[in-house]
This record gives sequence, C-alpha cells and structure tokens, in this order.
Amino acid sequence: MTAELSGSTALVTGGTSGIGRATAITLAGLGAHVVLSGRDAGRGAEAVETIRAAGGKADFVAADLKDAASARELAARARELGGPIDVLVNNAGIFPTGPTADFAEADFDTVFTTNVKVPFFLVAELAPEMAARGRGAIVNVSTIVAKNGMAGMAVYGASKAAVELMTKAWAAEFGPSGVRVNAVSPGPTRTEGTAAFGDGLDELAAAGPAGRVGTPEEIAAAIAFLVAGDASFVHGVVLPVDGGRAAV
Ligand SMILES: NC(=O)c1ccc[n+]([C@@H]2O[C@H](COP(=O)([O-])OP(=O)(O)OC[C@H]3O[C@@H](n4cnc5c(N)ncnc54)[C@H](OP(=O)(O)O)[C@@H]3O)[C@@H](O)[C@H]2O)c1
Repeated sequence: MTAELSGSTALVTGGTSGIGRATAITLAGLGAHVVLSGRDAGRGAEAVETIRAAGGKADFVAADLKDAASARELAARARELGGPIDVLVNNAGIFPTGPTADFAEADFDTVFTTNVKVPFFLVAELAPEMAARGRGAIVNVSTIVAKNGMAGMAVYGASKAAVELMTKAWAAEFGPSGVRVNAVSPGPTRTEGTAAFGDGLDELAAAGPAGRVGTPEEIAAAIAFLVAGDASFVHGVVLPVDGGRAAV
C-alpha cells in the first residue's frame, strides 16, 4: 500500500504531457499539492483542471526551462504557490534522434540543457532546503537508452546516462540529510511526445517480456512508489519500468 502524500508539495516538471501529466495526477491523488510546469499554458490548465475536478490540489507554472536562471525561477514560483517543496520529479525532457553526422551543434546543446543542466540546477536550488528540513524525495526520469546503445540516440542516451550518474551522486550528497534521490528508467511509453514514432515504438517494445509499450500511468505508479514512504530505505536506484526490456 502506497503511503499518503497529504501535506506535502510536489513539483513535477513537464507536467503538461505524457509521463509528467500522469505523475502529477497520481501524486495529487495521493494527497500532494502538485505544482506542474511546462511551456504550454493550455495543456497546463487542462492538467490542473483534471486534478482539481478529482478533488486534488494543483497549480501550473509556465516555464521555458533553458538555463540555470529559468530553473531557479521555476523553483521560486513553485515555492510561492505551494510552500516548501518536499518532492521534485525531474521529468521534462526532449528526445530528438538522428544520425551522428547530421546532428546540429545547437540541438546537442539543447538536449544537454533540457535533460541535464536544468535538473542539475533545480536540485541545486531545492535539495539543500529539503536537507535543511531533514526530508524530501527526488525522482529523475531516465530511459533504457541510457544503458543500451541505440543507433541515432547517442546524444539523448548520453544525456540520460548523465542523469543516472547525478542520481547516484545526489543520493550520496543529500541522503545523509534525509533526502532520497532515485530515478526511473522507462521503456517505450505511449505519450504525446512519442506519437511521432508510430509503429517504431511497438517494435522497440516487442522484444521485451511484456511485449508491449507502457502507459504513462505505469511509469507514474513507479515514481509514486519512489517518492512515498514505502520506499523509505531506497536511495540512489535507477528503477527499470520497461516491461522487462532491459533484462533480456
Ligand atoms: N515516452 C517514452 O517512451 C519515454 C521513455 C523513456 C524515457 N522518457 C522520458 O520521460 C520524460 C517524459 O517523456 P514523455 O514521453 O512524457 O514526453 P512528452 O509527452 O513530450 O512531454 C514532455 C514534457 O516536457 C516538457 N518540456 C519539454 N521541453 C521543455 C522545456 N524546454 N521547458 C519546459 N518544459 C519542457 C513539455 O512541456 P511543454 O510542451 O508544455 O513545454 C512536456 O510536458 C522525458 O524526460 C523522456 O526523456 C520517455
């Protein structure tokens, strides 16, 4: 049984779509006041309305996460709306693919800024406060591509491999102060962001024991486990939530 999150505030980046939206809804369902962020105000309002209609507490912050300053600004806005942040889900991410020879320098920089730099500075802003209060939980969203080499995914995979290492380093840095830092590693999951992959997503998933793509709600359930009290002795893990894709 997953423990309650009543009385806590959770910041979910990329809460306007896919895995982040499902996570925001799941954490709100467990009683957290969820602050969700994204760039698309329409999708943000829809997610907030969905949570409120179910009796949950949620707010949206429009944030184009593009550097340390925007990460710090989001943290400040979330604090204004929800008070001290107890839970951070670093979910916002981008996953452009393509041959190495054709990959533009600007796209390389954007992937590493969105997927690595912004989570780093969000943690820099929020984890010390959690540590000062002696409690908190952070979940980073990685991918199976961080461990498995896949053609066309060198940049994306490398960015998430960095996220996995940061997860362990932060577990070492903040764990002794009561802040648990973990990650999930989703397999192919049907979201707005992966819609363009079409059948390719099913082909990627077919090789795994589950033999199918995942749903955002299945990833959200694993994130909820890691932030809630049931995972109180779990620090620094990267939990595969991939239908067994990484196991075979
Ligand atoms: N779906 C999969 O198969 C899969 C598998 C493994 C890992 N993942 C990881 O899971 C996470 C979510 O993936 P998803 O499939 O749910 O993606 P998605 O549907 O494309 O959603 C991405 C979210 O990130 C936000 N975002 C992207 N760039 C942003 C920026 N510069 N500033 C602020 N927000 C930004 C988007 O918000 P706005 O559009 O509103 O700005 C959106 O809410 C990503 O980190 C991804 O790498 C996904």
